Amino acid sequence: MCIKVIQEITSTHMDLLLSADPNESLIIDYLKRAACFEYRLKEQVVGVIVLLPTRPKTLEIVNIAVSSQQQNQGIGEALLRYALTFAQEQAYQTVEIGTGSTSFAQLYLYQKCGFRMTGIDRDFFLRHYSNEIIENKLVLKDMVRLRIDL
Ligand code: ACO
Repeated sequence: MCIKVIQEITSTHMDLLLSADPNESLIIDYLKRAACFEYRLKEQVVGVIVLLPTRPKTLEIVNIAVSSQQQNQGIGEALLRYALTFAQEQAYQTVEIGTGSTSFAQLYLYQKCGFRMTGIDRDFFLRHYSNEIIENKLVLKDMVRLRIDL
C-alpha cells in the first residue's frame, strides 16, 4: 500500500474526484483549502481522498474515489482508515462525511469503518446539482451526514 500527499492535481486525479462529485467548480474550490492524498498501486494512481477542515477540531472527508477497475479490493477502506489516523495525529476530534441516501455501498463502507449517522440534508442534491442524478435506480435527492468521534 502506498498513500501519499498529492503534490499536483493531474487529470487522473480529477477524473477520480469527478467520479465521487460531479460538481467540478465545487471540487476546485475545496481543493484550495484541503489536504489531498493519493493511493498508488504499481506506480498508478488508483485512489484519492480529500480532507477539509470545516470547524474547529473537525475534518470532513469531502471526496473519496477509487478507479472502477480497482474497486472492492479494500482500497477505499485503506484510504478511510488512513484519513482517520491522519485526523487523530493532527488532534482533530471529529471526522465527518456526507453521501447520497441512494449510495448503499458507500453507506455500508462508512459504517463498517465506524461512522454513525447524524442527520439528513433533505434535497441537498436537488439544490446543488443542476442535472438529475440516478443511482441504484432511484433519483438522488437527500444527503446522509455521518460522523466519527475520535
Ligand atoms: N451494497 C453493499 N456493499 C457493497 C456494495 C453494495 N451494492 N457493493 C460493494 N460493497 C462492499 C464491498 O463488498 C466491500 O465490502 P467488504 O470489504 O466488507 O466486502 C465494500 O463495499 C467496498 O470496500 P472497499 O473495497 O474498501 O472500497 P472501494 O475500494 O471499492 O472504494 C468507494 C469505495 C471509494 C466508495 C468506491 O466505490 C468509489 O470510488 N465509488 C465511486 C465514487 C464515490 O461514490 N465516492 C464516494 C462519494 S461520497 C464522498 O466522496 C464524500
